[in-house]
Amino acid sequence: MLQTDFLVIGSGIAGLTYATKVAEAAPHRQVLVLTKTFADETNTKYAQGGIAGVWDELNDSYAKHIEDTLVAGDGLCNPGVVEVVVKEGPERIREIIEWGARFDRDADGEYALGREGGHSESRILHHKDVTGKEMERALLEKVQSLPNVRILNHFFVLDLITQHHLGYLVTKSTPDIECYGVYVLNLETHQIEKIESRITLLATGGNGALYRTTTNPAIATGDGIAMVYRAKGRIENMEFIQFHPTALYEPGLRGQSFLITEAVRGDGGILRNHTGEAFMARYDERRDLAPRDIVARAIDSEMKIQGTEHVYLDCRHIPVEDFVHHFPNIYQKCRSIGIDPATQMIPVAPAAHYSCGGIKTDLYGATSIRYLYAAGECASTGLHGANRLASNSLLEAMVFAHRSAMQGLALIEGNMVYTTLAEERASLPDWDARGTTDPREMILITQSLKELQLLMSDYVGIVRNNVRLQRAMRRLDLLHEEIEDLYRSSIVSPQLCELRNMITTGYLIVKCAQFRHESRGLHYNTDYPGKSKLLQNMVM
Ligand code: FAD
Ligand code: SIN
Repeated sequence: MLQTDFLVIGSGIAGLTYATKVAEAAPHRQVLVLTKTFADETNTKYAQGGIAGVWDELNDSYAKHIEDTLVAGDGLCNPGVVEVVVKEGPERIREIIEWGARFDRDADGEYALGREGGHSESRILHHKDVTGKEMERALLEKVQSLPNVRILNHFFVLDLITQHHLGYLVTKSTPDIECYGVYVLNLETHQIEKIESRITLLATGGNGALYRTTTNPAIATGDGIAMVYRAKGRIENMEFIQFHPTALYEPGLRGQSFLITEAVRGDGGILRNHTGEAFMARYDERRDLAPRDIVARAIDSEMKIQGTEHVYLDCRHIPVEDFVHHFPNIYQKCRSIGIDPATQMIPVAPAAHYSCGGIKTDLYGATSIRYLYAAGECASTGLHGANRLASNSLLEAMVFAHRSAMQGLALIEGNMVYTTLAEERASLPDWDARGTTDPREMILITQSLKELQLLMSDYVGIVRNNVRLQRAMRRLDLLHEEIEDLYRSSIVSPQLCELRNMITTGYLIVKCAQFRHESRGLHYNTDYPGKSKLLQNMVM
């Protein structure tokens, strides 16, 4: 059995920032980072637009960034959390710059600040249109320079270990659920190992893979959220799935779509329908730079009215050298599929992009389970409310990784990591694989995955109603029953466990959506088109 002081599950911006912080502050402590594929295969790597932060002290202010975040969040942000993230954010950005991340500068040597939907000022630091790749690179290099951090790739975490594994009854109302570590499938040896940890951070990212098209890579299967739900921890606001308005439309493509960053609209890109109309003027006075929920719904409506599978992003009026300078990766991708942005409009459609809800945490990233923290996209900190403001995600991940790290360090160094069951903890059982065999047919998994993605896209997409949600729930019930049967009888594999996690996450999204009898932010239900006076988080 492996043992560690700090266990970090996930190697995106949240996990690596946290690992750096605890490892630097406590060089005598062991930090173990687990990742289910390669360390850099994360949502973080694909981030394009950049990281928001108040940088231009002349024109911008904390008050403006706070206000923009609250407006986008449509009444459900926690104002205290918004203030903390906005005010602590620039310090975290300075740190990652010190660790080696490079952001673009203008001709005067000042940071070039981009603009995105919902922002009243230009405040997005970026590295061309591959900001996430640059941040992930800098973080990985930093972490790899720290002798007390070990990264294990291809370690698929299956479940959290709690009192439940010692034979105690654990329910949602058990007051002191404690996390002792995880069971993990080592994909090189195919053995299931036990890892015992004193403090665990979940930084497992989002769940875009539940949808037929998504900007997320295939790793985004909601594993952390499903694990916490199984361990009887608290999850909230799962109905708020953000669809990015402008993923590149490629006919017949299923899975990860290439993103056309919102920064393109920040630089003047205009959305047009099939008649060539710049339709956003009919939907919002902020036109193409309205918050994402409004733009995605407008596109969805135009596509339905005109019976098309996409709209267009018109960049033909942007000088081509400017376009290529800021968006070299997008330019190259468009050219590779035969589209020249200088002379042709880019076909785009909304795609699942970001999960605003997740594992409920406090201001220090603490979950409802003791010694278990969550940061990054898998967490619901209260920052995003009903709709995340563009480029606030990388910022939130760094701020909360820092805050969780500080609290974890204080607990460990203050000798406050105690458990109610210290002696029994020494006898945590091994994984019980009795009675399981190799699943006979992969089709049982692949077909269920297709069904799940179809039902989530068709019934739980940008626009919802009660009948669609009810249908989705009935189908999820069946998928749940089938996957549980398969899980009980099969030797576990990542494909099986990811599907099981996705079905659980889908259930949580639909359940929260059914509980919300209003339309707010990213949740739009035509049976309840208005907003309720009661501001409520859906906690499961
Ligand atoms: P991730 O970076 O997704 O990392 C998740 C990690 O968890 C991975 O290492 C994975 O292997 C690991 N993991 C998951 N499950 C398991 C398991 N069972 N066992 C072991 N390991 C596991 N946000 C912005 O603020 N600005 C942007 O410009 C921006 N652009 C974006 C563009 C795209 C195309 C996408 C997809 C997202 C974008 N976002 C942006 C959102 C942002 O990138 C993500 O929210 C953020 O990077 C999430 O970071 P994370 O650390 O929480 O998780
Ligand atoms: C983008 O670059 O458009 C994505 C930004 C984000 O998701 O915050």
